[in-house]
Amino acid sequence: MSEYIMEVNDLKTHFHTKQGIVKAVDGVNLRIKPGEILAVVGESGCGKSVTSQSIMRIVGQKKSEQLSGEVFYHGEDLLQKTEAEMRKIRGKHISMVFQDPMTSLNPAYNVGTQIAEMPQIHENKPKKAAWQRAVEMLKKVGIPSPDKRASQYPHQYSGGMRQRGVIAMSLSCDPDLIIADEPTTALDVTIQAQVLDLLRRLRDETGTAIMLVTHDLGVVAELCDRVAVMYAGKIVEEGTSEDIFDRPKHPYTQGLLHSVPRPGHAERLQPIEGQPPSLHDLPEGCRFADRCPFVMEQCRNEQPDLLTTETPGHTVACWLEKEGVEDDNRRTRPRQQPEETF
Ligand SMILES: Nc1ncnc2c1ncn2[C@@H]1O[C@H](COP(=O)(O)OP(=O)(O)OP(=O)(O)O)[C@@H](O)[C@H]1O
Ligand SMILES: [Mg+2]
Repeated sequence: MSEYIMEVNDLKTHFHTKQGIVKAVDGVNLRIKPGEILAVVGESGCGKSVTSQSIMRIVGQKKSEQLSGEVFYHGEDLLQKTEAEMRKIRGKHISMVFQDPMTSLNPAYNVGTQIAEMPQIHENKPKKAAWQRAVEMLKKVGIPSPDKRASQYPHQYSGGMRQRGVIAMSLSCDPDLIIADEPTTALDVTIQAQVLDLLRRLRDETGTAIMLVTHDLGVVAELCDRVAVMYAGKIVEEGTSEDIFDRPKHPYTQGLLHSVPRPGHAERLQPIEGQPPSLHDLPEGCRFADRCPFVMEQCRNEQPDLLTTETPGHTVACWLEKEGVEDDNRRTRPRQQPEETF
């Protein structure tokens, strides 16, 4: 049996549009161990949400949405499952938390009823026992007076409480994997930190693995065991939090780290210049080449594969790694500082 609960191999999601084929996900590989928190990070539009939705088979149903590759969950390929089989997996074994809690909550029903529905459907729990479970889950996610709150409607909850409610719903059937797509992006900073703390506590208590999708590298350092960095439909670097934050290899990862405020790093923030390539007109070589401060000729002609670095488990798709460029100046050269000073 594999040590992973999920193994995504060469996942591709291509959308056929009037403008051409949009390669939103284009050969993604991911691995998640039981109880692990994996962050998938990258700029807006790089394919993070489409990756999550493809794993859950929320996309890929229409003729214009072409899905390929493998998504092994406990050794079974989800891409080969029928829709009826997927319905049994979603919510029960793998659940999803979206950015906007109102995607998951129906304004017409009280929150308790909506959470209770999950164990009723998936575990045939009688109504009363399912309601008890809902109250218990609300308590677990830190909602005060859960008995009373369960009978209230989503509009009676604050934004942060609604997201806690959705997390309670996602936990109600004791899944072994939660895919949380920007679960805190719509919340203000203090509440964001509380919800992230909650996710970590729940993982510690329940042992559920979490795939946390975010464009904000700043939020993941403390929370995640592993980080996968995504760029233009591909994973360009993957490793433990320490690998990614202390010894990033890919110039894109280095650029991301320079562009977000981080505790203990006082240097001036430097956004990565330029834009990612269009997903329906991708370059032949490395997709980051146009923005890369270390670009070489080879980078423009050939796409680099993910290679293991000197640290086992830390992989990077960059020709600098392949070429074994040992010129430390090159690797650690500070990114050019802008000339003007304030
Ligand atoms: N149904 C669709 N048809 C065509 N293109 C699509 C479709 N869904 C998504 N895309 C495109 O796929 C790309 C990846 O989108 P995705 O939503 O996965 O990005 P993301 O990394 O989640 O970004 P964000 O951080 O903004 O949420 C985008 O360019 C988007 O426009
Ligand atoms: Mg998204």
